[in-house]
Amino acid sequence: MATVEAHYRDHLAPVYAWMAGGMDAAWGAGAAELDELALAPRSGDLALDLGAGFGMHAVPLARRGVSVLALDSSGQLLDALERSAAGLPLQTVRDDLLNFPRHLPQSPRFILCMGDTITHLPSAASLERLAVMAASEIAPGGVFVISFRDYSQALVGDKRFIHVRGDSDRILTCFLEYAPDVVSVHDMLYQRTGDAWEMTVSSYQKLRVRPDPLIDHLRSLGFSVERQTGMRGMVRLVCTRL
Ligand SMILES: C[S@@+](CC[C@H](N)C(=O)[O-])C[C@H]1O[C@@H](n2cnc3c(N)ncnc32)[C@H](O)[C@@H]1O
Repeated sequence: MATVEAHYRDHLAPVYAWMAGGMDAAWGAGAAELDELALAPRSGDLALDLGAGFGMHAVPLARRGVSVLALDSSGQLLDALERSAAGLPLQTVRDDLLNFPRHLPQSPRFILCMGDTITHLPSAASLERLAVMAASEIAPGGVFVISFRDYSQALVGDKRFIHVRGDSDRILTCFLEYAPDVVSVHDMLYQRTGDAWEMTVSSYQKLRVRPDPLIDHLRSLGFSVERQTGMRGMVRLVCTRL
């Protein structure tokens, strides 16, 4: 089983933009999600994007004039983000997302952790810690948005095989294997070279985050929490610091 960092470095990062349907499409989808969220930034606000990837949300936020700190553990995805963000008010940091407080120049008014990033954390305890840090670092009245896949109901049988994306030269599918607290994700990538197909497989674990206990925890930390349905059916929690 690969670590999350190795899985992205060796397997997903080189095809991540393709997997997302291209960067322009991803930025368009990120911008549409920001419109839905109606975050209403003010001048001087800082937004922190945890697990920013190549900037699906960070780039459209920065295009709206918000200063963005984009943190991720993948050097390749951050390189892609930096190449796209020239001239925008956006800084990147390569680190583990649990270390985010040490990189903050000021209290962020927005913290985003989108696109299933929290399920990459190593344990439920680390997710609790992340929420505690978000509650103590975010500016008063600030908004913490989390979106993630609800793996709490195990898929069974053929439903565990998921077609992620395919075209004439590349196919990505994954197979999910459920344990009580984690799901093993086996990503199978087929790439065509001439007449031949090469298959590479890499596997990593994701947390089975249960929405209700997470919502209770966030409320206990002083957030008001609204549960919504986000992009591609993900659970989206919009948490406002009271
Ligand atoms: C599923 S992608 C989501 C990317 C982006 N937020 C989006 O919505 O498209 C998860 C991202 O989190 C990053 N990541 C996973 N675990 C991390 C960790 N512990 N610290 C920092 N980044 C992490 C990965 O490198 C990847 O870019």
